[in-house]
Amino acid sequence: MNHPRIQRAPLRTASIVGLGSYVPERVMTNADLERMVETSDEWITTRTGIRERRIAGASETTSDMALEAARRAMTAAGVTAGDIDLIIVATITPDMPFPSTACLVQQKLGADRAVAFDIEAACSGFVYALDIGARFVEAGAHETVLIIGAEKMSSVVDWTDRNTCVLFGDGAGAAVLKHRPGARGLLTASLGSDGSKAGLLELPGGGSACPATAESVAGRRHFLRMDGKETFKNAVQAMVSASNEVLERCGLSIDQIRCVIPHQANQRILSAVGERLGATAEQVFVNVDRYGNTSAASVGIAMDEAVREGRIRRGDLVLLVVFGAGLTWGAAVLEW
Ligand code: ACO
Repeated sequence: MNHPRIQRAPLRTASIVGLGSYVPERVMTNADLERMVETSDEWITTRTGIRERRIAGASETTSDMALEAARRAMTAAGVTAGDIDLIIVATITPDMPFPSTACLVQQKLGADRAVAFDIEAACSGFVYALDIGARFVEAGAHETVLIIGAEKMSSVVDWTDRNTCVLFGDGAGAAVLKHRPGARGLLTASLGSDGSKAGLLELPGGGSACPATAESVAGRRHFLRMDGKETFKNAVQAMVSASNEVLERCGLSIDQIRCVIPHQANQRILSAVGERLGATAEQVFVNVDRYGNTSAASVGIAMDEAVREGRIRRGDLVLLVVFGAGLTWGAAVLEW
């Protein structure tokens, strides 16, 4: 499905020099969901591995969560707002269709020098943003790049649809990218898309195809819809093949990877991907039980936790792998 791409051989490498994440305080457990739709803790945990998720406050926006994750990543990286040249926000739940959430974050941060734009690759957003941001650093076009995956999925979930409302949560993950002398940083990344399967996972209302009307609202067209079974099959297949592609490009076997950070869609997808790659359970980082699927935020949140828990140490090789609506997918290998 992927076209072969040239292995990275940049004059300047791009490294993640700081990570940060934020999740809202409010915890929604499976027991809470039992009171909202006809479901059970047993069904949710056996099918998805999710026990609880975080839900943003009514007035808490995607840009608010992005800002907090960004501040934490910038502190970890030792950079200030004035150092930021470029801000890329990956989200499918922007504060509004325009201006971009990245511009809103720029204003809140006071990052006056930065160029700011959003990208939309659904749950694959963090690895898309990483690949794009790293290329600006490698090309010497920008010194300090801030990438953020942030989502308020609770604002697009149909809370009457048990098929989807149990799966998602809110949060944000951020990384600062710079050239770190002597470090290999991002070794390679591979992105893929398949628009022929756009209908598997979509939010049909609110765009030019179906502008907001009283009818579109009554028809619940402003909520996400998903064909769970087909999504599941495509996710496993694409995540395994993207992972194998980047490992092959780098001449690495899975046992040389310290930590695999997959998009936290659900436990069964994570287990199936891990097994097919030949990774041990210890290698595959999982926090879907605590946050559910936070879409573009998930890899940033997971990598930040993995580093803080000591699961990834300086010099370790890390495999990131994602999948989402579009369809979109991607994988990356980096040296921490
Ligand atoms: N509680 C209780 N019963 C439920 C629930 C629920 N929350 N949701 C669905 N059911 C019922 C269904 O109605 C169905 O009942 P029926 O047989 O009477 O019709 C039954 O459970 C089985 O439903 P299935 O769809 O067959 O369940 P499946 O085993 O496929 O699991 C799931 C559903 C968890 C959604 C699975 O398909 C899945 O994980 N898919 C991938 C979803 C995903 O991760 N999407 C996001 C990835 S991409 C991205 O991150 C953007």
